[in-house]
Amino acid sequence: MTTYQKVVLAKRPAANIIPGETFRLESAKAPTETDLKDGEVLFEARYLSLDPAMRGWLNDTRSYVPPVQIGETMRGYAVGVCKASKSKKFPAGSVASGITGWTELAVVNEKTLQKVVLPKNGWLTDTLSVLGTTGLTAYFGLLNVGQVKAGDFVVVSGAAGATGSVVGQIAKLKGATVLGIAGSDDKCTWLRELGFDDASTTNRLPSPPTSAREPSP
Ligand SMILES: NC(=O)c1ccc[n+]([C@@H]2O[C@H](COP(=O)([O-])OP(=O)(O)OC[C@H]3O[C@@H](n4cnc5c(N)ncnc54)[C@H](OP(=O)(O)O)[C@@H]3O)[C@@H](O)[C@H]2O)c1
Repeated sequence: MTTYQKVVLAKRPAANIIPGETFRLESAKAPTETDLKDGEVLFEARYLSLDPAMRGWLNDTRSYVPPVQIGETMRGYAVGVCKASKSKKFPAGSVASGITGWTELAVVNEKTLQKVVLPKNGWLTDTLSVLGTTGLTAYFGLLNVGQVKAGDFVVVSGAAGATGSVVGQIAKLKGATVLGIAGSDDKCTWLRELGFDDASTTNRLPSPPTSAREPSP
């Protein structure tokens, strides 16, 4: 590969992403092994991730990470292969994931990457979903923060989404009763197939009982 393609931010969106306006596809000369410094890897992406948090990264406001700059490669998770390496942790040929951006090729420091260890029957794309940020958020949010235990009643909003669908399944594994809230009947059917005890669309939710306690601050 003598050139590679990357997706750069062309114009900040005011609201929705506008195809052909917000992002631009650019070609560039491909880096090679000789461009690597100690601890760096030439990473070739196989799958790019698309996550809701990425929309926030396009806003020019103070946040937990700096905004993506105009003309900069779009920040994002990817899973791929180390084509060349000056890292002992990630030798050439090893498979890794990390925030390497929406680009076919990237020179990245080894600290950017995580090793990919797939369970039996796992798919590479699982590292960007159930075994990646969404799965980890669901796992630690529910178990470390939520402290869910058998007998609890768990209500999951956005239940048919990447994170919510994992939250509900973990809650079931822990012995909770789980109600999912989703935007359509089809999604509710799917949630029941996943093992949710029940699912409801937002416009059919019963009013909370008057004795319901106020949510904690
Ligand atoms: N802090 C972290 O590390 C972290 C990690 C992962 C996710 N998150 C956050 O968790 C939330 C869910 O993430 P996710 O990855 O599960 O997202 P997702 O797969 O896109 O699911 C989001 C769900 O929200 C509902 N929704 C409501 N209004 C929507 C709209 N205008 N556009 C799209 N979906 C809409 C949709 O469900 P219905 O159509 O059924 O209503 C959709 O299934 C997001 O706020 C995300 O930023 C945080």
